[in-house]
Amino acid sequence: MTVKEIFETMDYGAAPESAAEALAWLVDGGDRFGHFIDGKMTAPATAPGEVFLAKNPATGEVLAHLTQASLDEVDMAVAAARKAQAKWEKRGGKARAKVLYALARLVQKHARLFAVLETLDNGKPIRESRDIDVALVARHFYYHAGMAQVMDEEMPGREALGVCGQIIPWNFPLLMLAWKVAPAIAMGNTVVLKPAEYTSLTALLFAQICQEAGVPKGVVNIVTGDGAVGEMIVTHPGIDKIAFTGSTAVGRRIRQVTAGSGKSLTLELGGKSPYIVFEDADIDSAIEGLVDAIFFNQGQVCCAGSRLLVQEGIAEDFHARLIARMSKLRIGNPLDKCIDVGAIVDPKQLERIETLIAQGGMEGTVHQPCPAPEGCYYPPTLITGLHPSAKLMQEEIFGPVLVSTTFRTPEEAVQVANNTRFGLAASVWSENVNLALDIAPKLVAGVVWVNGSNMFDAAAGFGGVRESGFGREGGWEGLMAYTKPKGKLSAVKPAMPHMKPDTVEVLGLDRTAKLYIGGKQARPDSGYSQAVYAPKGTLLGHASLASRKDIRNAVEAAQGAKGWTKAMAHNRAQVLYFIGENLSARADEFAQRIRELTSTPEAKAKEEVAQAIDTLFTFAAWADKLNGAAKPVPMRGVALAMNEAVGVIGAFCDDRPLGGLIDVIAPAIAMGNRVVAVASEAYPLAATDFYQVLDTSDVPAGVVNILTGSHRELAKPMAGHMDIEAVWSFSSADISKTIELESAGNLKRTWVNFGQTRTYAARDWLAQATDIKTIWVPYGE
Ligand code: NAI
Repeated sequence: MTVKEIFETMDYGAAPESAAEALAWLVDGGDRFGHFIDGKMTAPATAPGEVFLAKNPATGEVLAHLTQASLDEVDMAVAAARKAQAKWEKRGGKARAKVLYALARLVQKHARLFAVLETLDNGKPIRESRDIDVALVARHFYYHAGMAQVMDEEMPGREALGVCGQIIPWNFPLLMLAWKVAPAIAMGNTVVLKPAEYTSLTALLFAQICQEAGVPKGVVNIVTGDGAVGEMIVTHPGIDKIAFTGSTAVGRRIRQVTAGSGKSLTLELGGKSPYIVFEDADIDSAIEGLVDAIFFNQGQVCCAGSRLLVQEGIAEDFHARLIARMSKLRIGNPLDKCIDVGAIVDPKQLERIETLIAQGGMEGTVHQPCPAPEGCYYPPTLITGLHPSAKLMQEEIFGPVLVSTTFRTPEEAVQVANNTRFGLAASVWSENVNLALDIAPKLVAGVVWVNGSNMFDAAAGFGGVRESGFGREGGWEGLMAYTKPKGKLSAVKPAMPHMKPDTVEVLGLDRTAKLYIGGKQARPDSGYSQAVYAPKGTLLGHASLASRKDIRNAVEAAQGAKGWTKAMAHNRAQVLYFIGENLSARADEFAQRIRELTSTPEAKAKEEVAQAIDTLFTFAAWADKLNGAAKPVPMRGVALAMNEAVGVIGAFCDDRPLGGLIDVIAPAIAMGNRVVAVASEAYPLAATDFYQVLDTSDVPAGVVNILTGSHRELAKPMAGHMDIEAVWSFSSADISKTIELESAGNLKRTWVNFGQTRTYAARDWLAQATDIKTIWVPYGE
């Protein structure tokens, strides 16, 4: 093309990045790779069943032969990680910081090689791997080098979890590795990481960097292979924690297979994130933001703004301008620096996108103004006119496909935005700061971008709610997932109800305590109750036996009490103080009741009541003091970390008749949650006496619901209930596994004791009673 022709057409010339260095690196490795275990590469497999191919999706060419890990190799990796862990942790944060810093420096030194290799292996535009992925990887290691540096001083009450199994997807191969490895090793853990089978190459280059950076052998281990290898890691008894990023289906399976194993778990799963444009938005900016939200990385982004919600009055104009912008996108060779949209990661994924559009596209109008070249490419697509409940409006497509619907009012925007089983991210576009900041907290999502999209930083927590998973990555909050409170665990002693004696002594009138649902006493649906005896055989009364139906009623009442979550923290504090005050007025009566139920000495019973009052006052104090944060992210603006209530929490109490109940209620309601608490199974009658305290303390109906009955029977319906957001158990019954297993239904958070007890600090309770929402607010024009 001549210069004159270029001026006439204003067309782009090709500007390909050289792949020579990356290809040479592959050749140096003999085009064949084993695993990185105990500080060295293992011999690559050669037998046909043990080898799989790394391919360039843009051309189909084979880049390397990789090794499918066997169980023996996973065992070796776990053993190496276990052997290295204690020593690595003992080195102390400052020594670990130096190693993380070296990793950050080396990532920067090899930035070009990493970027080209990533683009070759994944198909993403070089512009993105070079300017976004690799830059964020280096930032993540720097940031966590800093976290290691300050850990000993800033986190004195916490320690490493041990060996972490980490399973990552193919959409941001190196970035997801950094998100997993950096916080884990900073906190003194060791890791066994499995990259996705489509994209293992940058992880193998990272292994080499680990050797150069002086990472002690066994601290980082990388095994390659498909989901079967992932499953070997997930089920391995030598692993203490699993961190997974990937599809919701696999996340759910991991929740099920790890249930009851005692492993910690964090899941970062799929999304269908709303991109809300109000009519007063800066339309051109909103369109640029949208191009970034859905066509970045070919739309293969868990938090992609894949669901456009545009206000009705501007919808036609907005769609027309968007289609015009889409027609200018450049799609093709990912190594070309002028390319906006690259290749889809693998023909299988392409087929998946094509099938979904073939199944659901006809329900709306499909716009594809920018044709895709031959090969593993999918054209940027907009589908308008879909009903909010249409399949394509609800399913994660994971490709460059935007679905669109309209709304009329801000309330409707929130309603449509939240009409999804996911809750990962959302964007709000409006020039009215009041409107934007009114909407952001109402969106059910872990991350909200105001007038922006796809902003990420190591300092800002990232993660979801609902079926987008649980746990945060990044920031101080991300470290919670790689540490545990220090301190000794002791076995929970199972408390058995006192048996019916041969001769029952009945004192006064026999009374059957009802359940407490929606602020009223309610008979159990089953009509059954159990007698409660004092240790010496006196009949103290009867307690109702709640069933599945009562759980449903209690959850309905709790869901109806949403006003509590919206109430001012100051007001919630007043209610908690009032409960404490009313309890203290009846302290002697409760101490007496505890003595009757358990035959505890008087002093100990009194201490339990005093402790319960103190707990109420403590969390009344915390109600308006759990600060969020303004994160210093590298932009003109802030990322706010807001503590939000989890929602409805189901809780099984320990066997301190009053203390067990107050321990769960106080932190939960202080943070704005509503509770369905199941009282101590053996000693339920102090909890039922407590109804009157609640009645006289201005607690709105439905905020606290109390059931009595068998923990074993109630564990399944509680954990399986789709309208409960979290389940806690401190029960002496062995129900942890049931709870974790059943929670897989809606992927609710769980906090269970595995039959062990420890004393938690207020901050541990508060962390469990809240989810952190990150709200990004850029400044300026
Ligand atoms: P996937 O969830 O199967 O793969 C993610 C990782 O999990 C890979 O490393 C894979 O080897 C591993 N894995 C698969 N089965 C496993 C098992 N049973 N136990 C342990 N690890 C296992 O995702 P896939 O099949 O590659 O993509 C399918 C769809 O999943 C995509 O179209 C997209 O909708 C969604 N997805 C979402 C991601 C996100 O970040 N939200 C990332 C990747 C995929």
